[in-house]
Amino acid sequence: MTASPEVARRRTFAIIAHPDAGKTTLTEKLLLFGGAIQLSGAVKARGQQRRARSDWMKVEQERGISVTASVMTFEHQNCVFNLLDTPGHEDFSEDTYRTLTAVDSAVMVIDAAKGIEAQTRKLFEVCRLRDVPIITFINKMDREGRDAFSIMDEIEKELALDVTPATWPIGMGREFLGCYNLLADQLLFMEREGAKDRARQALACQGLADPQLDRLLPKHAVATLREEVEMVRELCPPFDLDSYRAGHLTPIFFGSALNNFGVRELLAGLVGMAPSPRQQKALQRRVDPHEDQVTGFVFKIQANMDPKHRDRIAFLRLCSGHFRRGIRMLHVRSGKLLNIHNPQLFLAQDRDRAEEAWAGDILGLPNHGNLRIGDTLTEGEELHFTDIPSFAPELLRKVRPDDPMRAKHLERTLRQLGEEGAARVFKTHLSSEWIIGVLGVLQFEVLADRIKTEYDLPVHYEGTPIHTARWLESADSLRLKAFFNGNTAAMAEDHDGSPVFLARNAWHLETAVKEWPEIHFLKTKEQFIR
Ligand code: G4P
Repeated sequence: MTASPEVARRRTFAIIAHPDAGKTTLTEKLLLFGGAIQLSGAVKARGQQRRARSDWMKVEQERGISVTASVMTFEHQNCVFNLLDTPGHEDFSEDTYRTLTAVDSAVMVIDAAKGIEAQTRKLFEVCRLRDVPIITFINKMDREGRDAFSIMDEIEKELALDVTPATWPIGMGREFLGCYNLLADQLLFMEREGAKDRARQALACQGLADPQLDRLLPKHAVATLREEVEMVRELCPPFDLDSYRAGHLTPIFFGSALNNFGVRELLAGLVGMAPSPRQQKALQRRVDPHEDQVTGFVFKIQANMDPKHRDRIAFLRLCSGHFRRGIRMLHVRSGKLLNIHNPQLFLAQDRDRAEEAWAGDILGLPNHGNLRIGDTLTEGEELHFTDIPSFAPELLRKVRPDDPMRAKHLERTLRQLGEEGAARVFKTHLSSEWIIGVLGVLQFEVLADRIKTEYDLPVHYEGTPIHTARWLESADSLRLKAFFNGNTAAMAEDHDGSPVFLARNAWHLETAVKEWPEIHFLKTKEQFIR
């Protein structure tokens, strides 16, 4: 194993936020400052281009939400950033959760007026499960918002996280002048959008007592700044890299993405603080990113990114090794060898063939359905990366083709969508009907639209009395069979034939669990595989 500088300069991260906090704006500004795009507005333009190319994303367009996570790679200050975009709408949280398994750190965006919101909390909890280090960006400081102390207090109390400011705001709303960079001792001025002056350079200071501050800022603003920083230094622990990397402490940057303010400092924070690729947990052992052999896992499958090619892209997070195009890799689940001829890298505005890649990078692998979420690829070792979450569906509906003659076609389509991880699909044992299970109600609509546009198959939904689904597992195959035979009306199979129990209500499930102690009723398929 040789420590590679290529691995050390990777920063693979995601932005987590409640819808409307400013994730899209911040993403765009990060790409802009990172030199990946030339003009502001390109993230949206790119989105529109994509929509024009892909019909099923009409739903996305109409709803004004981002359904699918994508990856953007850019280089800045000798670091390679892999920014994994996460869908903001809560109905698509499963995709977001999975994306978070593929990052080494996250940026949490909070609207200064709103503080922590429902989705922020949920996403944070996922990060906490894996000790993902978090940098916080308090956005929209140009608007009247909440007092900085109260937001920090909320983060500390609600998320049980130590906080320490990296920058400190000078004023707020219309009175917002900029920030003092506490880590670099710099005065940062904000130029509002539309201001004619070019953004002023950060001004180096000799600490807060520097008389320059008295010359450049209004008297009351300097006095407040000095007083507040003194208080904050008493109240907050100093920045500690180890504590941040362990996920215990979050440095806070204040800014306004819309006004390009605070973004440069945030990027510098990612360069200086955010971890390079971390070790990944596999069932058999921990995998170090500097190991020579290439390993990775699939965390997302996306269909029809380009309708001209009816392929599916599996997103592979590389966990170790130096990947080269053409490499032969073992697909651990099937035991087959795959030749990786056409791996894609996702640059901010385009995708490109990847000649080589390193741990931390995200590769897109076109395939025809042989790769699934959670699959591990290695150069020969039997490894299974773990902790890729899959959730028991909370909403279930019967799905039927508008044309009853096309039931076979529906079956093929649903099996594919099930493999892709777009939804849970179950075929009932007695009536051979198909049930779709999702986490958010909007997913039903997106799926129906996809089935119609991608598979040319109009479908409709019908209600079902089913309350929830559980995968069944048991070391005792006879008992499993007995359960199956005794409950045929509630039995189904998923897309690859695994047995599933469809409970009519909570009591039905509880009784089954109590009466059949030898059988595990699992909420997630991953537990089942492992
Ligand atoms: P999201 O991806 O987290 O959902 O948020 P998005 O970036 O789309 O931002 C949501 C709204 O907040 C947008 O306004 C955006 O312009 C605004 N916004 C983002 N950052 C800032 C900021 O620093 N200051 C202020 N004042 N506003 C900010 P919109 O009116 O909903 O959309 P648009 O018409 O501006 O695109």
